[in-house]
Amino acid sequence: MTDKVAKLSLNGSTYDLPVLSPTLGPDVLDIRKLYGEADVFTFDPGFTSTAACESAITFIDGDKGELLHRGYPIQQLAEKSTYLEVCYLLLYGELPTPAQLADFSARVTNHTMVHEQMHYFFRGFRRDAHPMATMVGVVGAMAAFYHDSTDINDPWQREVAAIRMIAKLPTIAAMAFKYSVGQPFVYPKNSLDYAGNFLHMCFSVPAEDYVVNPVLAKAMDRIMMLHADHEQNASTSTVRLAGSSGANPFACIAAGIACLWGPAHGGANQAALEQLRQIGSVDKIPEFIKMAKDKTSGVRLMGFGHRVYKNFDPRATVMKQSADEVLDLLGVHNNPTLQVAKELERIALEDDYFISKKLYPNVDFYSGIILDAMGFPTAMFTPIFAIARTVGWISQWKEMIAEKNQKIGRPRQLYVGPAKRDYVDLRHR
Ligand code: CMC
Repeated sequence: MTDKVAKLSLNGSTYDLPVLSPTLGPDVLDIRKLYGEADVFTFDPGFTSTAACESAITFIDGDKGELLHRGYPIQQLAEKSTYLEVCYLLLYGELPTPAQLADFSARVTNHTMVHEQMHYFFRGFRRDAHPMATMVGVVGAMAAFYHDSTDINDPWQREVAAIRMIAKLPTIAAMAFKYSVGQPFVYPKNSLDYAGNFLHMCFSVPAEDYVVNPVLAKAMDRIMMLHADHEQNASTSTVRLAGSSGANPFACIAAGIACLWGPAHGGANQAALEQLRQIGSVDKIPEFIKMAKDKTSGVRLMGFGHRVYKNFDPRATVMKQSADEVLDLLGVHNNPTLQVAKELERIALEDDYFISKKLYPNVDFYSGIILDAMGFPTAMFTPIFAIARTVGWISQWKEMIAEKNQKIGRPRQLYVGPAKRDYVDLRHR
């Protein structure tokens, strides 16, 4: 709280708007009483200037290119931590002690299998369904399989639902993948770590031995860490809005997955790699850049730009380094997609249009390159983002549910439709 007050003059009256000071970031005008007192709404499509909640989980300084989880910089976490430790941090607010981490990891690991009946549920989908479509359906259906963790008013059930989703999302995404390629589902192997187990469920087949490559498992763990949470982005806001009605956690996370799928959000990793392939060769880049600058073309450079980062995306810096390590390990150097990616990055970073609009490669530009090199089809890129972001969605959802004055989300509008008019009988139209 603060003593600062902003004054709004409107129609001859003056209204006081309390100014709230966050721990970090710009001050926030409290307009909660504005409608009641002044009979006006505020207009902010895309929420570019609107804080819709209080949160103590993640902070982004877009100008500095800074991302903090519970205060810890993402670069330090990416270098020193693991995905499950970051999950603990996001969910409970502090880094775990060794005993807490061991207990948390064991709880997640013990929930990796899905209800056997779910296997039949999968078989109802077409084989060529996009795995994100399958995931939206299956995660939503978890409410039908795990009734005992849908009561949002019971903290124990909220906790069980959280652990179940963190544990089972990799299994569900891997099953969606296996189903799409016509291979048998692979059960989780709890002796492996979180990322290694996911690779195992995606790439092993019953007929052969599969040994998880530790460098690839580490790279996967890092991809997950870098995607774990990102403040009030579109899918997180969707989860909060869905949750504000009291909907069960599985339904809320399914809503988040649906929102993430869009190409302006999590779907950008798939779109970016497909765009690189579409460009095809380095000589086509200038023509493509020309199209990306021309608004009438409808083409955007996928994997570039961010609503909040206007300097650089700190996740992209780490991801780029990880991409180099993975490509080195796998001996991928002359692949045409990679050549196009490197040249596109070079040209865009020197081009006035991209510089003046502060459009830098984002996390999705590099994650697609790594996942492609690991052998994932592009359709699996966004499901992997969804696995990683699940902990962020759940942490934000839990934070919202625990709030004392939590209200259903209900934005207002600037109505521009017809004014009131009388119904005209059909025969007079
Ligand atoms: N290529 C070409 N021009 C662009 C691009 C781009 N990728 N991104 C923005 N612009 C232009 C846009 O045309 C506009 O120009 P003007 O000011 O002349 O009208 C200006 O830059 C600002 O764009 P905006 O759409 O108002 O910006 P935004 O903050 O609403 O959108 C964005 C952010 C991420 C949706 C957008 O940059 C974009 O569509 N990028 C490509 C998709 C992408 O990579 N998304 C992944 C984001 S990171 C992962 C995640 O969080 O999910």
